[in-house]
Amino acid sequence: MTKFDYLHYDPWPSAQTLLEALERSTLITLTVISELSSGQELVALSPNLNPPHWEFGHLIWFHEFWVHRQGIPSNPSFLSDSDALFNSSEIFHDDRWQAKLPSINVLKNYLSDVVERSYAILQSGSLTPEQAYFMQLALFHQDMHNEAFAYMWQSLAYEWPIEQCLGSIPEQKDNLDPYYLNIPESQLQLGSVPNTGFIFDNEKWQHEVVVPLFSISSHAVNNGQYLEFLEAHRDSDAHPLVSPPSHLRQKEGKWYERSFHRWLAMDLQAPVRHISALEAERYCDWRGLRLPSEKELAVLMQSPPANWRHSYLWEWTSSVFVPFEGFTPDPYRDYSAPWFDGKHRVLKGWSVYTPAYLRRPQFRNFYLPSRSDPFCGFRTCLP
Ligand SMILES: [Fe+2]
Repeated sequence: MTKFDYLHYDPWPSAQTLLEALERSTLITLTVISELSSGQELVALSPNLNPPHWEFGHLIWFHEFWVHRQGIPSNPSFLSDSDALFNSSEIFHDDRWQAKLPSINVLKNYLSDVVERSYAILQSGSLTPEQAYFMQLALFHQDMHNEAFAYMWQSLAYEWPIEQCLGSIPEQKDNLDPYYLNIPESQLQLGSVPNTGFIFDNEKWQHEVVVPLFSISSHAVNNGQYLEFLEAHRDSDAHPLVSPPSHLRQKEGKWYERSFHRWLAMDLQAPVRHISALEAERYCDWRGLRLPSEKELAVLMQSPPANWRHSYLWEWTSSVFVPFEGFTPDPYRDYSAPWFDGKHRVLKGWSVYTPAYLRRPQFRNFYLPSRSDPFCGFRTCLP
């Protein structure tokens, strides 16, 4: 198709729906930033983090750049130097620690200037397809940064100031013991088609794939199972030691799991989280199992949910993040294309911090396989 593919991502949500979603997402962002206590905004340089105030400015800039400046740098911004400071494609990661950021009050004013302008458009009753697309792009980008704030806060052991999660976890009290589902050879439609609502460019386009017979676990690997792996490697000469992830610790014979700033007694049945793909693969090797591929996890996620349990985590796959045949980048070219570098892995699913409208089976998340800071876990397949 063309560089105007994005005009075919209808049906568009109503202006009222968008308005409510944008207000909710903005409230989360503002709460998270405003509740930081003094000094907590200063975080040490790390490849997996951003300075929180930089990230705050960046998501406002992104919204303004695409919704109100049409992606054209010469169109004026409410904030001087906003492109040099906050365009993530321009400012190198490590330079974000050196950037002379405006004060937090200036950034909050910038936010209110930008979102008020969007609210006015949404209340005007005339929303063009172009505006509807870019409004969603800015909203979803903000939602993803809100989720990134959540896992950054978890990494830093900061208190997360928002009680409720963004989409409820359905009651999963059941007697379903973990087992392996045998899924016969099937044909899967992988990717998305136009005119089915907003999609990201890496979902273009839907194509049929054959998925050979496989057996996949009904549940993600849980804390109890992962502890067996840790215990087995405690004093082993045959394998190098495996150190527990930093949010798990043992004290006086009992295991605890950290949730943000609090240490809680470990729930052995809960899915283990903050495990990198590399660690997950070591676990699989030890058990004689393997990670599912992107296709296999997509088949599972499109099969009746009563047969399996969602982990409410992003789940790793063994698949490298590659473009589908016919991929072309959408206007925000750096969403996917730079990450088709052969190093990133696909994750499927969603976390508790993902808004309900982004919980789509076609959605493809991607991270380097060494990352363990996002809310990620894994399930296994028989070899
Ligand atoms: Fe971003």
